[in-house]
Amino acid sequence: MMRIDIISAVPDLLISPLNTSIIKRAQDKRKVEIFVHNLRDYAYDKHKQIDDKPFGGGPGMLLKPEPFFECIEKLLSERAYDYIIFPTPGGKYYNQQMANKFSLAKNIMILAGHYKGIDDRVREKFATDEISIGNYVLTGGELAALVIIDSVVRLIPGVLNDSESALNDSLMDGEIIEAPYYTRPAEYKGMKVPDVLLSGHDKKIKEWKEEQSKILTDKWKKINNLEK
Ligand code: ADE
Repeated sequence: MMRIDIISAVPDLLISPLNTSIIKRAQDKRKVEIFVHNLRDYAYDKHKQIDDKPFGGGPGMLLKPEPFFECIEKLLSERAYDYIIFPTPGGKYYNQQMANKFSLAKNIMILAGHYKGIDDRVREKFATDEISIGNYVLTGGELAALVIIDSVVRLIPGVLNDSESALNDSLMDGEIIEAPYYTRPAEYKGMKVPDVLLSGHDKKIKEWKEEQSKILTDKWKKINNLEK
């Protein structure tokens, strides 16, 4: 079973999403174990202080190194980790290939920063993978951690059932966007489901899906400035 440990100063941002829907079911099915560690539990001074002002000045507070070191070193003394992921806007852009790679791991640790960030010695000492989930700034690494966990856990064999299968996902095989999907009713507020999908004609449906997929893939490349 895969094990994921997340260290965070704001565990509330993580607990409820991780205990909902498919990620909850994956844990119930014993496909993955996810542990959220509250940074404050590893603060050893009497005020339980986890943040402090940055040397050299600047706005905001930084997470102190000691609570991270305490927590990470305790976890490392218990087992080896394949990846120690540090979500940061300065990291490598996350993609499906990286999710595929992480999904083969046994143990993953994720270090979520908050406020202005984490004392850089934590990254320097422990991070194996620095990851950005996109070119924008979040209030902390927790949402990035959730994005990574969600995309990794759904790839673990047995997590998705056949109807949810990840096998023919968009982006799975060489960056293809799938054709649109529709369900009942066949007409809603004057908007009709494409006739071909109601025709029962398997070959025509397959051809339509391939054609739509090509159109959407070309459009996706165009709006994202990717090679044609
Ligand atoms: N922390 C703040 N912004 C982030 C981003 N875009 N990706 C990963 N971690 C972050």
